[in-house]
Amino acid sequence: MGLIAIVTWQAYLYRCYHSMYIYQLFCLVVACLAPGPSGKVTVCCKLDEFRVKPPIITLKNLSKSYRSDSQLLPVLKHISLDIKEGEFVAIMGPSGSGKSTLLNVLGILDGFDSGTYCLAGRSVAELNTTQAAEIRNQMFGFVFQSFNLLPFLSALENVALPLTYRKMTLAERERRARQFLSYVDLAERASHRPAQLSGGQCQRVAIARALVTEPQVIFADEPTGALDSATSREIMSLLSKLHKEGASVVMVTHADDVAQSANRVVFVRDGQVVV
Ligand SMILES: Nc1ncnc2c1ncn2[C@@H]1O[C@H](COP(=O)(O)OP(=O)(O)OP(=O)(O)O)[C@@H](O)[C@H]1O
Ligand SMILES: [Mg+2]
Repeated sequence: MGLIAIVTWQAYLYRCYHSMYIYQLFCLVVACLAPGPSGKVTVCCKLDEFRVKPPIITLKNLSKSYRSDSQLLPVLKHISLDIKEGEFVAIMGPSGSGKSTLLNVLGILDGFDSGTYCLAGRSVAELNTTQAAEIRNQMFGFVFQSFNLLPFLSALENVALPLTYRKMTLAERERRARQFLSYVDLAERASHRPAQLSGGQCQRVAIARALVTEPQVIFADEPTGALDSATSREIMSLLSKLHKEGASVVMVTHADDVAQSANRVVFVRDGQVVV
């Protein structure tokens, strides 16, 4: 009972201050003063037992509308959502419910009208366009249903593209892109253009492109939507592997079997998160 109270209080403190420093300091004090089974105060070194993984993403009351023909169409309505570091979250819901819009807002590809979006303790609304672009390039990786590969570039050049803005020589960029193409088992197709690859291979190139910057969060919008079931399984095992290696994954899907790879499913209906 006491432990539950301590953990709840820690979570409350963390949410209040959004500061890992205060949170970890508090953990340390609590851990050091925690009474042992005998009732005596003992020094406890198992800090991990007390640590609650911090949310990397916190949305509070977030709303967004699209304007078309002078009409306002509310698409996201008062969404509150936490996504923890290292979590694999699937977003599901009917067509037109706002899943892709939510993913685009989370990936800072699109803005929002009201509410707050806190990314690793930083308010997204306060970022200027350069800072937002830097975060997208350095923290995020994107995978889309239609792969979004550039048709006139080879697989290798597509994967190397996000490294263009890094201080790296062309040779370094290509070496790294080749390494990530090997990771998705496509080293031998490096010089192929997207039109010369199968759908599954295109998606693997897109995943290599999303990973080449070693992002903290991977956003995937129906990554298996255009693939047959065997290739879907292949792509899902790749995403699960990335998640096990430490990445946070936020994935929109319509398919129950695909969502099973996730730790948690968030349902969106008519622009709202439903439990
Ligand atoms: N750029 C836009 N301008 C105006 N309305 C838009 C725009 N993009 C999306 N919408 C509308 O917002 C609503 C939500 O669209 P969204 O693409 O987020 O749905 P979704 O849940 O991803 O659907 P699906 O499962 O079919 O991909 C829809 O009614 C759509 O018509
Ligand atoms: Mg969609």
